[in-house]
Amino acid sequence: EAIEKGGYDHFMLKEIFEQPRSIADSMRGRVNSQEEILQLGGLRDYMDKLALAKRIIIVGCGTSWHAGLVAEYVFEELARIPVEVEYASEFRYRNPIIHADDFVIAISQSGETADTLAAIQLAKSKGATIFGVCNVVGSSIARETHAGAYTHAGPEIGVASTKAFTAQVTVLTQMAVAMAHKRGTITEELYRQLLLDLSAIPQKVEQVLKAADRIKEIAYIFTYARNFIYLGRGLNFPVALEGALKLKEISYIHAEGYPAAEMKHGPIALIDEDMPVVFIATKDSSYEKIVSNIQEVKARKGRVIAIVTEGDTLIPGMVDFVIEVPETHEVLIPLLSSIPLQLLSYYIAVMRGRNVDQPRNLAKSVTVE
Ligand code: AGP
Repeated sequence: EAIEKGGYDHFMLKEIFEQPRSIADSMRGRVNSQEEILQLGGLRDYMDKLALAKRIIIVGCGTSWHAGLVAEYVFEELARIPVEVEYASEFRYRNPIIHADDFVIAISQSGETADTLAAIQLAKSKGATIFGVCNVVGSSIARETHAGAYTHAGPEIGVASTKAFTAQVTVLTQMAVAMAHKRGTITEELYRQLLLDLSAIPQKVEQVLKAADRIKEIAYIFTYARNFIYLGRGLNFPVALEGALKLKEISYIHAEGYPAAEMKHGPIALIDEDMPVVFIATKDSSYEKIVSNIQEVKARKGRVIAIVTEGDTLIPGMVDFVIEVPETHEVLIPLLSSIPLQLLSYYIAVMRGRNVDQPRNLAKSVTVE
């Protein structure tokens, strides 16, 4: 087992550090920024249908559902197609409205999640085309879907999903860019820029990982916090949800993720000097708004950890702790901003003496309904 962990203390840490490679693998043979090519083999026969689709429905559970929420923003922003993201477990029991020209994307690391499998079968029975985004090759979901794209993240052993999440987001983003290009909803210039920016992500992830020691110090300070709030806007809202889920599942600390603007509709009542608040506050279209959300929390003595874009000079002066991520195109930010949150959860869980790779009550794949 020690050999399999490759010198890391836990599989989760190894998998977090594998992300520059796993993200690159999820683009290998698909993105070629020099030749300006983006091709997803599994999508080829469905590209025309996808380009004409009226609606995309995304189904998944847990972290895979969070990847779906990120994809909703990216598809709508670039390809201008309406997207609905559903918990597979709710979708399947709700008599959902599905049309034959809907394109359903099922996301699953394991490819064995019972609720996601059942949601696919239901959508299939209504005539929809189902596309799978799975990590495990030959899994039940990969076989049940009409077509798909593997995430190629490699085996994920830690129960808490890390590299599978970023690979899912990378594949879904490639789909959105390909679709936007086909539909003509992005300019050639933006298309080229996105391919370049995608290709640069692995090296930028490498850079984020260099903050591990600094994140460890922050984790030390908050090891015994009883609660955490994670706030983000836009694309960073699903990142907030994912950060909170990661912390809950491996450290057993109660954590909530919210869209930052929703704070004033309730959660703000929780804020005092004992409440750590993680803001995912990168430079994007909601930057100014999130700056005022940070002020609201600081005015109530909340302790703020902020994930910011490198070179930000404003937020560091307002908050208690800062973790920087490099600049990238707005739709790619979750691929960078989610990584410090994985490390923060990991180090807090280790410091609390938790069984990081196999947290209590959880299984790597949930094959029961
Ligand atoms: C993630 O850290 C969790 N362990 C869990 O939420 C997981 O993402 C969910 O069970 C879905 O699994 P799947 O991707 O294999 O379908």
